[in-house]
Amino acid sequence: MHKYDLFSNKFFANPDPVFHDMRKNDPVFWEPTLEAWVITRYTDVKAVLSDDRFSVNRNSRIRKATPEAAKASLAACYEHLDKWMIFTDEPAHKKLRSVLGPAYTAAAVRRFVPEIAELVDTLMRPGVANGGMDVIADLGVELTGIINARRVGFPVDMVDQARQWSDDVFLLFGSGIVTEEIVDRALRSLRECHDYGFELLRECDRETDNLINRLASAVDDGIMSEDQVAASCAMLMIGGHEAARHMIGNGLLALLAYPDQLAKFRDQPELADQTIEELLRWGSPPLSSLRCAATDVELDGKIIRQGDFVLSMLRAGNHDPAVFTRPDDIDIERPPKKHLGFGFGLHFCTGYSLATAQVKLALHALVKNNPQLAISQSSLEWIPSLSSRGVRSLPIKFG
Ligand code: HEM
Repeated sequence: MHKYDLFSNKFFANPDPVFHDMRKNDPVFWEPTLEAWVITRYTDVKAVLSDDRFSVNRNSRIRKATPEAAKASLAACYEHLDKWMIFTDEPAHKKLRSVLGPAYTAAAVRRFVPEIAELVDTLMRPGVANGGMDVIADLGVELTGIINARRVGFPVDMVDQARQWSDDVFLLFGSGIVTEEIVDRALRSLRECHDYGFELLRECDRETDNLINRLASAVDDGIMSEDQVAASCAMLMIGGHEAARHMIGNGLLALLAYPDQLAKFRDQPELADQTIEELLRWGSPPLSSLRCAATDVELDGKIIRQGDFVLSMLRAGNHDPAVFTRPDDIDIERPPKKHLGFGFGLHFCTGYSLATAQVKLALHALVKNNPQLAISQSSLEWIPSLSSRGVRSLPIKFG
């Protein structure tokens, strides 16, 4: 029997009551099934994410509960993940970020806003004409998949394949319980995607303003190896659309639950940016972020031993009443305070500006001119993932 339910459909439908209990009673808690410390206070989450005594490397994350037959494949998965910037510690991380980061700055993203707006418009048109659509399949998947393909520099007809790779790998990241099937699928996808990264490098045109050409130049300049380029492509083909896709669904659900806030977002363009920040605080898809203690660390009187894993619950920090008044409510005029929806510290999301632009334009297109907008299905299925929480589908009608 679990002391706290972090695994059921009920939890994924609404994780906040569990997080409030944990934060109040056990803010630094050893969770035996996850074989990790779970931390839930805003200040602790921030402290762990900005403390270099915690590593992002997950090579040793082979839990006792991992089926014997899956252990070798899991180790092979980590050999791939090891090369991803998000799982790389300093100083190697800084070097990778100096190449990838500039491709996704606010200034770089501003140039693509008209392109994102046009694509949103195109994707919305059939739904508006038919009186309804699935926000995830028809808008979220397509928009974030196509924009990611264009930014990285892979053909749009690979978007479905990238989504499949992404779904397989996120199952490994986000599952409380790791099965042989989950590990096998993740490994196959990691291998295929990494190989495809090499292909992209071989075939890049060296002219278009996209990531693969930037990475190719980094190889020429001796900053990156070809293997690191393949890994970076794989990381972005897998991670560059997943959260934004779910955030469009999570954001719309939040706005529909708070019609007064939806009306402000729709009618007051000056509130658009802070609306998106508030929606990310309230419902960012990654519920958690994993670190490994590189040395013994004391946190709130508990000793986290070297080698122990720590799951910082971003969602719990974002709903901490010590920091956010009435944290479970949406208030788009909330005084600005740094939320943890994009993480914190050195590994703060590189795609922040791109993600924000996509979510803002998609949500605005959904709510403008559609005052009767409503969900057209009585119950929603939440993906049971601590890494990327969202609904599988979100059918709506425009009224
Ligand atoms: C709403 C959408 C998104 C959310 C909520 C989100 C969230 C996050 C979070 C929480 C982290 C930190 C993970 C950690 O510290 O363990 C992160 C890192 C990262 N994200 Fe995002 N992300 C989103 C969209 C994107 C997009 C569109 C890209 C495409 C470029 C992207 C690329 C990255 C990368 C490369 C990192 C690793 C940064 C580093 O290690 O320095 N993300 N993201």
